Amino acid sequence: MKVIIVKDYQTASEVAATEMLAVVKNNPKAVLGLATGSTPVGMYNLMVKDHEMNGTDYSTIETYNLDEYLNLPMNHLDQSYRHFMDVNLFNHLNINKENTHVPEGFGDANEACVAYDTKLAEIGGVDIQVLGIGSNGHIAFNEPGVPFELGTHVVTLDEQTRQDNARFFDSIDEVPTHAITMGIKSIKSAKKIILIATGSNKADAVYGMIEGEVTVDLPASALQDHENVVVILDEAAASKLTK
Ligand code: PGA
Repeated sequence: MKVIIVKDYQTASEVAATEMLAVVKNNPKAVLGLATGSTPVGMYNLMVKDHEMNGTDYSTIETYNLDEYLNLPMNHLDQSYRHFMDVNLFNHLNINKENTHVPEGFGDANEACVAYDTKLAEIGGVDIQVLGIGSNGHIAFNEPGVPFELGTHVVTLDEQTRQDNARFFDSIDEVPTHAITMGIKSIKSAKKIILIATGSNKADAVYGMIEGEVTVDLPASALQDHENVVVILDEAAASKLTK
């Protein structure tokens, strides 16, 4: 793992955006692996700014997102990760929406998982995968304990996650109980991975990911044996590292 430590969130976003733009500018047909959550928003803003200022072309770029809620209530479709990606990135680029893939949150979920992994296998893995990390070391919706061998699969959201997300809904009863997520195996099929973590609440997870043992108890530790991972940290998230 290559570890880059910078002073703050804005600088981490700049480093991450530089990594993404290098791939996009180098290969008009690049396949990007994208993530939701608050962490990548700064990077997406910079990609949009770059597109507006420099006209960077996304017309033949393809994207795959990590995860999606299953069976969102119709009055809360604005909480879908598809919507998040449209609002934060896709609507502001000259990207063909047909080339943007987010796991299907309605219909037969098992079929959607197989379809997603089939597409990922066809392309031979994304060129660059963006990741955040949960304070418990999760990546995408792969919570502690999930086997590393799983491809895209359905997860039951744990109570804590549903409570954390209840603020976006009218009540906790409306928070979906299930989601669809790329598995660790699908994530590791990426040719390159950039993981961004900022803030002191991520420091323990970051320490475990980089210096701890490889264990399903800390899903991000599975990245240790991937040959091309860049971890971008601010000083707070890096504060527990010893090396
Ligand atoms: P965050 O979430 O970017 O909102 O901190 C990261 C994650 O849970 O993967």
